[in-house]
Order: sequence, then C-alpha cells, then structure tokens
Amino acid sequence: MSTKREKIAVYPGSFDPITNGHLDLLDRGLKIFDRIIIALAENPAKVPFFTTEERLDLIRTSLATHPELSRIQIETFNGLLVDYVERTGAVAILRGLRAVSDFEYEFQMALMNRKLSRRPETLYLMTGANWIYISSRIIKEVVSKGGCVNGLVPDVVEAKLKEKFQNFRQRQMAIPQLGPDDREDSAA
Ligand code: PNS
Repeated sequence: MSTKREKIAVYPGSFDPITNGHLDLLDRGLKIFDRIIIALAENPAKVPFFTTEERLDLIRTSLATHPELSRIQIETFNGLLVDYVERTGAVAILRGLRAVSDFEYEFQMALMNRKLSRRPETLYLMTGANWIYISSRIIKEVVSKGGCVNGLVPDVVEAKLKEKFQNFRQRQMAIPQLGPDDREDSAA
C-alpha cells in the first residue's frame, strides 16, 4: 500500500491584523493542500501595529471554530522565508494577489525566493472579489477614524482594533504610523 505524502503550504504574512481576505485565501488553499501553515513574520520589513502575541492571538481566536482546524497550523518565523519553508517540509508558499499594484512586489519576492531556493513553488491565488479592496492597513485606518469595518474582519479583530485605538485616545498617545499602502501588506 503506498503512503501518500502530505502536501503542505506555508501561508506567510504580517497579518497585522488578519482580515476576512486572509481567511478566504486560507479556505481556498485548504482545497489544494492537505495542511497549511500560517507563518507570521516576527520581523516584517515594517513596524507592526499589533505585537506578535496580539497578532497570533487574533489569528488563533479567529480560527478557533474553523471546521478544518486540524489541517491548519499557526506559527511564527524569523529570518528568511525560504529557510523556514525548508524546515517545515512544505512544497509551496501561498500568497494572494489583489490587483496589479500587488504584482511588482510579489514578482520581486517570488523571484528572490526562487533564487534563494529552488524547492518551494510560490502559488498565487487571486483575491476573492469581496476582499479585493481591503488590506490590513486600510482596515486600521478606517477604524482609527471611527469607521465601521464590520464584515471585513473577524469580530474579534474589529473589537481589538477599537479597543487599541480607544486606548491611544484615552492616554492621549500618538497613533502610530500605519504605513504606506504598497504591497507591504497582503490582504489575502
Ligand atoms: O503580509 P506581508 O507583509 O505582505 O508579508 C511579507 C512577508 C512576511 C511574507 C515577507 O516580508 C517575507 O517573506 N519576509 C521574510 C524575510 C525574507 O525572506 N525576505 C526575502 C524575500 S523578499
């Protein structure tokens, strides 16, 4: 009897915070792969709004009742993505593409990863139409100005964002820079 090797994909990102676009991509990825590792970059190129622990907690809570939870792993990584992927035995890196604006950064990243290692393939899925206009950054901006993001992020994320911005206001602290909306942030 032949034993089929498990097909694993790593879904890396800043997840600052996780959005419904990310969750949609994860669900679609689970139709292709046996297991998906959500890999939270601990040292992303930008300063995150949420701490690593907060981002992890939001991912875990958002997925707590996911019907395929046994096929989802949530981890953090430091250093080069390809080195981390190698350690996991994954065959692919899963990423989402929203629009042409994402393409240049993703193209550069995929080619650099390929130069560093020929082993994992990067697989891009087009972001679902419902999520095409959202990014973690734009979600943060809207909530920071009192706007509603209901239905665009898990409830726990919306509540945490409101709490955090309210805290900044109450303590009269400056709200951190939310960063430019280039492809430093993958909504899905
Ligand atoms: O959600 P993001 O911010 O678009 O994710 C970007 C991420 C974390 C996937 C990317 O910055 C990354 O892979 N960082 C790890 C460092 C690395 O391997 N850099 C070389 C590839 S560009």
